Order: sequence, then structure tokens, then C-alpha cells
Amino acid sequence: MMKKTVVANWKLNPDSPREARELFLPVKRAARGLKKTTVVVCPPVLFLPLLASYLNDSQKRLCLGAQDAFWAREGAWTGQIGPSSVRKSGGQYVILGHSEKRALGDSDAIIREKLKLALAEGLRVVLCVGEKERDAAAEYLKIIRGQLTAALERVPKRFAAQLLVAYEPLWAISTAPRSSGADTPADFLEKAIFIRKVLSHWSDHGRAMAMPVLYGGSVNRKNAAGFLAEGQADGLLVGRASLRPNEFREILKIADASA
Ligand code: PGA
Repeated sequence: MMKKTVVANWKLNPDSPREARELFLPVKRAARGLKKTTVVVCPPVLFLPLLASYLNDSQKRLCLGAQDAFWAREGAWTGQIGPSSVRKSGGQYVILGHSEKRALGDSDAIIREKLKLALAEGLRVVLCVGEKERDAAAEYLKIIRGQLTAALERVPKRFAAQLLVAYEPLWAISTAPRSSGADTPADFLEKAIFIRKVLSHWSDHGRAMAMPVLYGGSVNRKNAAGFLAEGQADGLLVGRASLRPNEFREILKIADASA
């Protein structure tokens, strides 16, 4: 069985370095006990250097990441942060294609450019895909396929080892206006198989099977085990519950026990 990866997406929280530290230190303590699970904390990028100062070499299971990174390294791009800045500030991962970024204007083409540069910079990319709604004609599968193929178009397959995919149906994300709660583990498993099939067209069967496929959308302490066991998820992308230290610690324990 594959090792698990649990990604904490803090989104626009918290709003001060002090609180960021208070949220991070319990994760750091919890990560010490993990044997087979990697935790990736993605705070607002401003806090990366501060949190990176709490990392040490003995804790290989705890990493930092960004929630986005621009498609240019440097230059006249007001307000943007490039992937090399993420890396040099202590980030090893970046989330790309999150539905909340897509809603703010990240098109498939923009996501592809961001993905290419982030991979070339050596970051591991958590590529988010997911449909807005389910329809009886299964058009949503075309959406998932389209998001994957568009993001990976002309991306060399040698980068496969740096790639993770997070399946996050929009309707399941807790901050979505019409969130109806998490998906089911059985449904996730079906989508994960579909995602690997699409990935195998981009790379090959072996690489596609080795690529972690995570579940995200209203993950909490009650449903985490189901996604990891029955759903066979290689990990979880956790938003709201990652801001609750006790609950997040439990999710990490559950992940490690299932690995
Ligand atoms: P949620 O967020 O766990 O609050 O649903 C997940 C995400 O948007 O990444």
C-alpha cells in the first residue's frame, strides 16, 4: 500500500504570524509520531519563512507548501509569487487548479503554465480537479478528463513523480455555497480509477498507478477513515478541519494507521 499524504489547505487563514505559529506547532508535534504519512501544511504564502524556521532535518514527514504559484519566475508582475520564491522560502509543494482559484480566473491554460514552471522548479504539485455538479449523463467525467488533459498537455512525463492529483468535487467543498457534504468513499474510488486511466494516457500505466490520488471536500475526523480504507485514497486534502488542531491531529493518526 502507498504511503499517505495529508495536505492542509489553510486558505485565507489565519491573519497573523502569531496565530499561524499556534496552528502549526501542534501539527509539528503530531507529525513526530507519523511513520508512513507525510503532512503538507499550506499556509498563506507570507507565513512560509516563519513556519519553515520551525522545521528541522529530523522531521522528514512534515513539509510546507503554497496554495498557488505564478507562471513566471520574476519580472513585472505586481502581486504575484513565483514557484522559485516558494521553494526558497521553505515550500516543497504547491496546490494548483484549486476550484477557488479557478473561480477567480485561473483557466486550464493558466494552470498548465503554472504547473510547468512549478515542476521545472522542483516543486511537487497537488493538481486539483473536480466537477461543479453531477449530471445524469455523466458529463462531469468529461470535465474531470478535460481538466487533467489540459493541465498536462505537453508536460514531459518524467515529471510524473512530482505530481499528485486531488479529486475535489466542488459541491463537496465546505465553503462552497451549495456544499452538500463529502462525497462517498465508493464514489471517490470510482473517480480515482478514472483519473488514473486518464493519467496513463499522459504518462504510462506504471507511472499512473504510482501517482497519489487524494480526496478533498469536507474531510473530517468522521469520514477520513472511509476515504482512506474503502476509498483507497492515497491521502486527503483538508480545508476547514485543518484549522482545528485536535481534529487535524486525529485525521493524521487515522491516515497513518491506514497506510
Ligand atoms: P474543505 O476544503 O475541507 O473545507 O471542504 C477543502 C479544499 O477546498 O481544499
